[in-house]
Amino acid sequence: MWPYPKILAHRGGGTLAPENTLAGLRRGMEAGFRAIEFDVMLARDGVPVVLHDPELGRTVAGSGSVAEIDAPALAARDAGAWFAPEFAGEPVPLFAEFAQYCKAHGVWMNIEIKPVPGHDARTGTVVARLAAALFADDLAAGRVERAPLLSSFSEAALEAARHAAPALPRAWLTASLPRDWARRARALDVVAIHTDHKRLTAAQAAAVKAAGFGLFCYTVNTPARARELFGWGVDGLCTDRIDLIGPAFN
Ligand code: G3P
Ligand code: MG
Repeated sequence: MWPYPKILAHRGGGTLAPENTLAGLRRGMEAGFRAIEFDVMLARDGVPVVLHDPELGRTVAGSGSVAEIDAPALAARDAGAWFAPEFAGEPVPLFAEFAQYCKAHGVWMNIEIKPVPGHDARTGTVVARLAAALFADDLAAGRVERAPLLSSFSEAALEAARHAAPALPRAWLTASLPRDWARRARALDVVAIHTDHKRLTAAQAAAVKAAGFGLFCYTVNTPARARELFGWGVDGLCTDRIDLIGPAFN
């Protein structure tokens, strides 16, 4: 039912290292994690980069939209100094290199497709194609559980990903479950629903599981809450507190 790891390090290393960077991923790996969630969007040249915000300024030095800068220029920006001086110079990762690093180190990926507004379908297509190409060997051998799980709040991005790489599993991210969640999840042909644990109820969790979908929660930062959610039947979660909820948490 849920063939994936139960606990994922959110944005690579949670809040213990700069998010969505190789340094963050390494911090997660130091804590024993071999499963992460991270965010991907397209730069101006259509090259996918690992980033959360469509605007520069919070984690990446500078200002303006990611859609107005080419990937090489973005990769030269500082994505670590905001977090702590020792991370200064940490670059914005190119998605292809970051995913390759994960694969080489046996780190399972939940890739969140997070399009810059207005670039939904193109982002879904590009990310799905690259991920499917990187895991072509596993997909051909039927080892789908090793391939990344693509997720997105953008239904257009999910539809495009489905069209571009039908063999790659997808999950629908929704901050809360709308009344027609089951119909929409079936229409999107997703294997799982990813949702904010703060708005999830035990009854909804049971209904999602009864409908046959995987159920994943973001972003769970206390062991007590993680335990409660697993008691509700939740299959997996990501955490910012990789120091409190480790990869072997049960
Ligand atoms: O994929 C789960 C979670 O990352 C979604 O929210 O804003 O942290 O990307 P956000
Ligand atoms: Mg995310």
